[in-house]
Amino acid sequence: MPLRSVPGQASVAKDTAGGKLFAPSAARNLSALLEVVTAHAPARGRALEIASGTGQHVVGLARALPQIDWQPSDVDPTRRASIDAHATEAALANVAQAAAIDATSVGWGAVLGPFDLIVLSNLLHLISAAEADTLLSESAQALTPGRPMVIYGPFRRDGRLTSAGDAQFDAALRAHDPEIGYKDVAEIASRAAACRLELTAQIDMPANNLCLILSRT
Ligand SMILES: C[S@@+](CC[C@H](N)C(=O)[O-])C[C@H]1O[C@@H](n2cnc3c(N)ncnc32)[C@H](O)[C@@H]1O
Repeated sequence: MPLRSVPGQASVAKDTAGGKLFAPSAARNLSALLEVVTAHAPARGRALEIASGTGQHVVGLARALPQIDWQPSDVDPTRRASIDAHATEAALANVAQAAAIDATSVGWGAVLGPFDLIVLSNLLHLISAAEADTLLSESAQALTPGRPMVIYGPFRRDGRLTSAGDAQFDAALRAHDPEIGYKDVAEIASRAAACRLELTAQIDMPANNLCLILSRT
């Protein structure tokens, strides 16, 4: 399924000048995400951001890690136009044009890789478990052995939703589409391990989110 419908609060982005979209949540979590990605990124190489959204994150990442060449991507053409508009305004030589990638489709990993780093934020709760499986196995194919994938977002822990806000958000997602909603950390770790992505760290992030660090074995 290329682009699932999600409830409004799951993907808020306002129009600004020149086709650029602005997501308040992306602005809020950028510095925390940057800190984790910077700590786990290789010294140089090629990085893929899956589901780049507005493009705010990839611009921040590319500025902070100039020795890495960044490939942003998204399934939605409006988001890709926004990513390109943000990257053009930032005039960064290490950000490529946004690629049209449906991360839940089969085949992109072998075609677009190899990458030395993959970053994914705020998508796993918006897709089904089967789609998350495909996303993980394609990412594993795209990633060079020994290299990391950083996954940021909201998760269940030991099957539980750990705040009232998370319980409400997960319920809204499932009411909108019973196939989507928060994934459990252990479930993602086990499915990732089955496609050679080993969970090496779980980092607490602001707003009760997590970063999962997976290493391609
Ligand atoms: C909640 S936004 C997150 C954007 C950004 N990563 C962030 O954290 O601000 C979800 C993004 O995933 C994209 N998306 C949804 N389904 C996708 C898919 N199957 N493959 C790639 N991107 C997808 C949407 O177009 C949207 O830009």
